[in-house]
Amino acid sequence: MEIVRINEATKHIGQDVILQGWVTHYRSSGKIHFIVIRDGTGVMQCVVKNPQAELHGAAQWDALTQETAVRVHGRVHEDKRAPIGVEVEADRVEILGISEGYPVAPKEHGVDFLMDHRHLWIRSPRQAAILRIRAAVIHATRNFLDNEGFVVADPPIITPAAAEGSTTLFPIDYFDDTAFLSQSGQLYMEALAMALGRVYSFGPTFRAEKSKTRRHLNEFWMVEPEMAFCQFEENLVWQERLVSHIVQHVLATCRVELQTIERDISRLEKVIPPFPRITYDEALERLKSVGMPLAWGDDMGAPHETALAEMFDRPVFVTHFPTALKAFYMQPDPHRPEVALAADMLAPEGYGEIIGGSERIHDLDLLLERMEQHHLDPAVYAWYIDLRRYGSVPHSGFGMGLERMVAWICKLDHVRETIPFARTLNRVWP
Ligand code: 4AD
Ligand code: MG
Repeated sequence: MEIVRINEATKHIGQDVILQGWVTHYRSSGKIHFIVIRDGTGVMQCVVKNPQAELHGAAQWDALTQETAVRVHGRVHEDKRAPIGVEVEADRVEILGISEGYPVAPKEHGVDFLMDHRHLWIRSPRQAAILRIRAAVIHATRNFLDNEGFVVADPPIITPAAAEGSTTLFPIDYFDDTAFLSQSGQLYMEALAMALGRVYSFGPTFRAEKSKTRRHLNEFWMVEPEMAFCQFEENLVWQERLVSHIVQHVLATCRVELQTIERDISRLEKVIPPFPRITYDEALERLKSVGMPLAWGDDMGAPHETALAEMFDRPVFVTHFPTALKAFYMQPDPHRPEVALAADMLAPEGYGEIIGGSERIHDLDLLLERMEQHHLDPAVYAWYIDLRRYGSVPHSGFGMGLERMVAWICKLDHVRETIPFARTLNRVWP
């Protein structure tokens, strides 16, 4: 008898199979037992009608409590009423691992309880669906970049200096020295772009953010493409193509998961390039017109981003931010050096910034000048500065936050549900 995964059961109608999984529901009418199991690929109703059916590992059928691990032997039957069109008539059930008093019952729990039980909570249909969508986003990201000729290249996680400001560094003891967990692989990706042309990294990044918001994690995953010979405008085109590819891939491959989490997909269907572009100056005008004035030079907060994004039916780029607001490596606009050739992509439906990117400074003297303004020690960045000494060319790149992307696609209240085990201000457990 073949061991079959639930999502393949429809190929085995009329055959005897073995399913392995965990009980989600059990009920009995006395003579007939209904056992619903999940195996990570899907959910199957197993019906025990035969009075001779065997139960191994327990004396009574009601031992099949939630999350008990079982192996079910039975025959696959077509059943139009079943969600996946088939059910299994079982004649033998083996208990592989009992589950007594499973704490995460299918009822309302508070967030703290659920996060304390995250190792179990991930088994629930909604959480599992979100993690599947996360996997689809990762797959689509890699696929798109691989197919476009980007070379995947991995920057170090242990780094000697800040990439994104010194206030959010996590220091670690590095023998007799102090090193830091990477906030962004970007500086290394710039070196790799000069070696390989178009590159990307996809890995964990770390920021000691003291903010307790629904979109900040202290450990999050970022994809960071970097392109040699690429200027500001082309960088935006890569971003909108990537994001739309990801969304369309999820729509095409995750219908069941999107239904499970009850996502209204009509807004996602509109995520097709080109995305609108507005400058920071234009953004200020628009914010003023909705009663959210900012002075020129002020940074936008989450409410400003939400208000702006609500004005469009797809993600929007805000470009040409004040240079003073942005990182040292961003290229000032040659025609207007007080603004940088930088853009944030804001997602609709209140999600705000999902991508930050820019053209990088390729001129040696300008880079040194900007580093001085940011009080950065050139000795610490000597290797990075070298890139401007040996065949420097215009280049650009961006960083897309995976969890923000998944939170938006799934329309979640908080990024903590987009990553298997979230690290937030008050949580490094489980
Ligand atoms: O805008 P950020 O800080 O840009 C960089 O790190 C650049 N060096 C990237 C690059 O150009 N290669 O971060 C990029 C993205 C943000 O738009 C956001 O989606 C995500 O990373 N992000 C976070 N996600 C979750 N929690 C946090 N604390 C995040 N900080 C940034
Ligand atoms: Mg940013």
